[in-house]
Amino acid sequence: MDKIIVEGGSRLSGRVRVNGAKNAALPIQCAALLGDTPTTLRHVPLLSDVHTMNSLLVGLGCAVSGERSLTIDPRKVGEGPLEASYELVKTMRASVTVMGPLLARYGRARISLPGGCAIGARPIDQHLRGLEALGAEIALSHGYVDVSAKRLRGATFVFDLVTVGGTQNVMMAAALARGGSRLENVASEPEVQELALVLNKMGARIHGAGTSVIEIEGVDTLSGIDHAILPDRIEAGTFMVAAAITGGDVLLEHAPVDHMHAVITKMEEAGVIFEVEPEGLRVRGPARLRPVDVTTKPHPGFPTDMQAQMMVLATLADGQSLITETIFENRFMHVPELCRLGADIQVHGNAAVVRGRATYTGTTVMATDLRASASLILAGLVAQGRTEIRRVYHLDRGYEAIEARLAPLGAKIERIHGAAS
Ligand code: UD1
Repeated sequence: MDKIIVEGGSRLSGRVRVNGAKNAALPIQCAALLGDTPTTLRHVPLLSDVHTMNSLLVGLGCAVSGERSLTIDPRKVGEGPLEASYELVKTMRASVTVMGPLLARYGRARISLPGGCAIGARPIDQHLRGLEALGAEIALSHGYVDVSAKRLRGATFVFDLVTVGGTQNVMMAAALARGGSRLENVASEPEVQELALVLNKMGARIHGAGTSVIEIEGVDTLSGIDHAILPDRIEAGTFMVAAAITGGDVLLEHAPVDHMHAVITKMEEAGVIFEVEPEGLRVRGPARLRPVDVTTKPHPGFPTDMQAQMMVLATLADGQSLITETIFENRFMHVPELCRLGADIQVHGNAAVVRGRATYTGTTVMATDLRASASLILAGLVAQGRTEIRRVYHLDRGYEAIEARLAPLGAKIERIHGAAS
């Protein structure tokens, strides 16, 4: 298993280009299943989650070629099983996002139930209830859910809670349903907006993405398209924290500023300096960081996927911050590892009290999930001495070659391939 070694203490400076967004790429890969012709995606990030989704699509009968420019040809889907196995769903929960497209386009799907995962129970009840409202029959057995319908019919459905994947799944199904649908209390994340844009390019009639109500006029067929994936706001946010905590000066090319107001506002509150320049967003770290209270919320609130990274920033501030996680239970698994590196963080339920002015000293730490891994890299950047981060496969799910992106900025970081864990 690979590990990453960081020698802390370098100030980051220079420029880095933000890659395509993982959370936009994954549902759009699934959307390719809805088309009658191939879809080509550009600016695709080279991530293990994207590869996992490709494997799932190949298993369903798609021909998949390319990497950064990825072509997905769904014309042979339906000749074999329409199944997302436990092996795939357990490694990547976003696998369940093939359910809506398969059901709408091919009339059935068999998907493993995700079960619990490292950051909480993460059920898919809202996905299933939404599809049921569109007329799907749902049967649960042996840990799998079978969904089927001859032709879905449009309906009004109100989500009990805001779910990104649920909104995407039901929106894709409704795009090919007979008649109109109205989805209420939907997620408004940029990646939901991007998926609606893609579906409309394919021939769908979807309005309201980005608000809390989406209206969809079902169509009979959709066709493949050519589309460039939008930049990753979480990757951009992670680089911003890296620049901020090292007192750095980094220009982020392709930063999706319009989708990052909550993160930028909070970081400004902490004293970080931002300037929008013609070539990107310049981020400069202040001499002293101020404490900030952060509560994670659905978009446009502060994203849960930036909580761990923001916590590292808070540990270095001049005072006490309160970080509250409202989206996922059990999403503080980075805390014990950050504390081993020198942070002072007390968790009380879904709130973490962070006492600032941490002096980090490097040691060996274990990545536990994707964003937790990012927080360990960040702490390593400011730690005295050498931090060794193990289980970096978590990191590779969502950050493309992070060491090769940070090193040109001045970070002393390297990957050791195939090391024993
Ligand atoms: C997506 C993102 C993930 C991000 C999350 C929240 C992708 C591939 N992943 O995950 O990076 O952290 O949004 O912004 O885009 N829930 C239910 N029932 C359901 C569905 C969800 O109770 O049927 C709960 C979940 O357990 C969680 C909350 O709703 O507590 C939000 O989950 P959701 O928005 O669905 O997250 P994902 O789509 O899985």
